Amino acid sequence: MTTLTLPAVARSRADLAGLLGARSGSVVLVPTMGALHEGHAMLMRIARERAGADGTVVVSVFVNPLQFGPGEDLDRYPRTFDADLELAATEGVDVVFAPVVGEMYPDGVPHEGVPSEAVTVQPGPLADLLEGASRPGHFRGVLTVVAKLFGLVRPDVAVFGEKDYQQLALIRRMVSDLCLGIDIVGAATDREPDGLARSSRNRYLDAEQRQQAVALSRALRAAQERASYGVPAARWAAMSVLKSAPGVELDYLALTTTGLGELPDYPEPGTEGRILVAARVGTTRLIDNLPLQF
Ligand code: PAF
Repeated sequence: MTTLTLPAVARSRADLAGLLGARSGSVVLVPTMGALHEGHAMLMRIARERAGADGTVVVSVFVNPLQFGPGEDLDRYPRTFDADLELAATEGVDVVFAPVVGEMYPDGVPHEGVPSEAVTVQPGPLADLLEGASRPGHFRGVLTVVAKLFGLVRPDVAVFGEKDYQQLALIRRMVSDLCLGIDIVGAATDREPDGLARSSRNRYLDAEQRQQAVALSRALRAAQERASYGVPAARWAAMSVLKSAPGVELDYLALTTTGLGELPDYPEPGTEGRILVAARVGTTRLIDNLPLQF
């Protein structure tokens, strides 16, 4: 029987500095909110490969209050730290940084509308679309915590999943606009055998909702198949799956350029785009996206 070596755990900025100070080689960061699953395992595998034997893989586990709006699932967000640590060990992670809220926000969490002198990241107009339209302030919270994690870990490379496609686009933009000099790697979405995108929030679904949720990826695939006929046909294909899907309440379905811009109805053949969906299944809000080729 082989015993797993658990990663070193840093609970504070000081612990983290102590653990990282002694290391050489490149540092690769995988930021997460925990409740790790096979999709995260894939990100950690990519990180391990990028870091090589001499480098250091750091996984952060922090449920960031600033990116949750009022009435969202901050309190019930799954917290599974012991299992997270085991999965990280399986993937050869060196350090898990799991700070308490006060370590990341020593002066309190600067929620929208609450007086605060804290500096936060203003994400620009891309943050007002899609997820940002449904979740005002969400990307300010994401970019602020990611910038803090970058400052604390000082990674050479950071790995994010494409499931949060708009988040990935905004992080790339922040790194470029603020000259942060970090190589951002986007990893393709990991899926269940029936196509459902792996997500920590899938744990909220009961058996019936789990069946219903597969309509999201089915709709995206239907659009992919029709993309060579143009945007209206692709949208129609996705909408007909979603409209006939029981238990699925659509928030948005968007066909965009790869940079989340507007597409003409009939893009030049060979043009690449993206289709993104958000929907509620029961009380659980799920998102997914896929590439399109016109
Ligand atoms: O994608 C996530 O899990 C979170 O948004 C992130 C990037 C860890 C920031 O809290």
